[in-house]
Amino acid sequence: MNRRRFLSATTTASLTLGAKRGFAAVRDDFPRARSAAYLDNASCHPLSVHSAAAVHRYIDWETNEVGEPWWPQWARARDESKKLFAALINAKPSEIAFARSTIEAESNLLNGMNIEATGGNVVTNDLHYSAAIYNYRMRQQDGLDVRIVKNRDWRTEVRDMERAVDKKTKLISIALVSNVNGYLQDVKALSDLAHAHGAYLYADIIQCAGAIPIDVRAMGIDIAACSTYKWLMGVKGYGFYYVREDLQGTVVKPTQHSGGVRFNYAPWTESPEAGLDDFAFKPVTGPGRYEVSYPSYEGAISAQESLRYIHELGVANIRTHVRTLTDRLQKELPAIGYPSITPHGNESPICSFVARDPGRTMEKLRAAGVHVAMRFGNKMRISPSVYNNQQDIDRLLAALG
Ligand SMILES: Cc1ncc(COP(=O)(O)O)c(C=O)c1O
Repeated sequence: MNRRRFLSATTTASLTLGAKRGFAAVRDDFPRARSAAYLDNASCHPLSVHSAAAVHRYIDWETNEVGEPWWPQWARARDESKKLFAALINAKPSEIAFARSTIEAESNLLNGMNIEATGGNVVTNDLHYSAAIYNYRMRQQDGLDVRIVKNRDWRTEVRDMERAVDKKTKLISIALVSNVNGYLQDVKALSDLAHAHGAYLYADIIQCAGAIPIDVRAMGIDIAACSTYKWLMGVKGYGFYYVREDLQGTVVKPTQHSGGVRFNYAPWTESPEAGLDDFAFKPVTGPGRYEVSYPSYEGAISAQESLRYIHELGVANIRTHVRTLTDRLQKELPAIGYPSITPHGNESPICSFVARDPGRTMEKLRAAGVHVAMRFGNKMRISPSVYNNQQDIDRLLAALG
């Protein structure tokens, strides 16, 4: 496919989307909705037909074409996806690097802050993602002072976090929305707490970016990261790392270097430049300092397409639609014997319930073609998205009722 065909195909997909209105039409964009009542978007969101078409065009090009367009075309997808993501969370494009994984980005952050060298500590809580807690436990073994605050009745109390923070705290790290029960942390109170102690707030936003409005400025989030394969409706291996501009290279040092050098001597060059080093280089500045090599272009392309889609629908509208589904689950599931472990009125697309007999519950749901997650033994997590509707919820309730 040549560049003109690529661009015109992309534009057609956007126009088709633009012509559609309402969430009934959105359902048609996600063919998975036809084969099952898929209510496990917190594990992995399906691709829309628009993102799938964009990735197919790339694969088609990789398979069949040679020559132009080479990387500038695909680099544009990377750059536009970063801009669209910046707009989504009210950051500046100069604050967004591409990332490969949320957990990798948090690890890079910890390496870059080098907190153990300063004798500082990190405060987190047990509603952060289990792999992140694992990361902290491993670093504890290497001498990092880590304080993991336990939840009370499936919420993190700010007063418990306050008790763990002291003047040596350098970082408060949270999952803004918990993957366990969808609990939305009181992020402003926690960022105020961090800032009052000269610390910073990191938010893992993978379970909410694209699903609820995020404003890093208003929420006081200093650093954040997510992959695109959940509520950003993309694929694995591509995501974003937000680092507040004034922290880049100072508080958050890059730890994996990626760039190029100029070989300033023969036989590399016929005209070496006087006064220049043999291996001359300029350190990368801006968010690029956190990026390593090429991104996954499949990731960048699907993210570009799905972020356009999310902006077009509007995150506030997405939230309003999904709230009608989670509100109903919160009301009706406890009444049929599944008590909720998600606080009422919680602003996220995830709600979880305790199943008395998890094995039997999953059997019934599978037989009815309903997909949910059963985690931590008996915690049934249900996470509807834009293309789900009340019939999906009817199906789940009928299977369990
Ligand atoms: C809260 C949370 N953080 C991190 C991850 C893992 O993210 P990644 O695969 O981007 O490292 C998950 C995956 O389920 C998650 O739910």
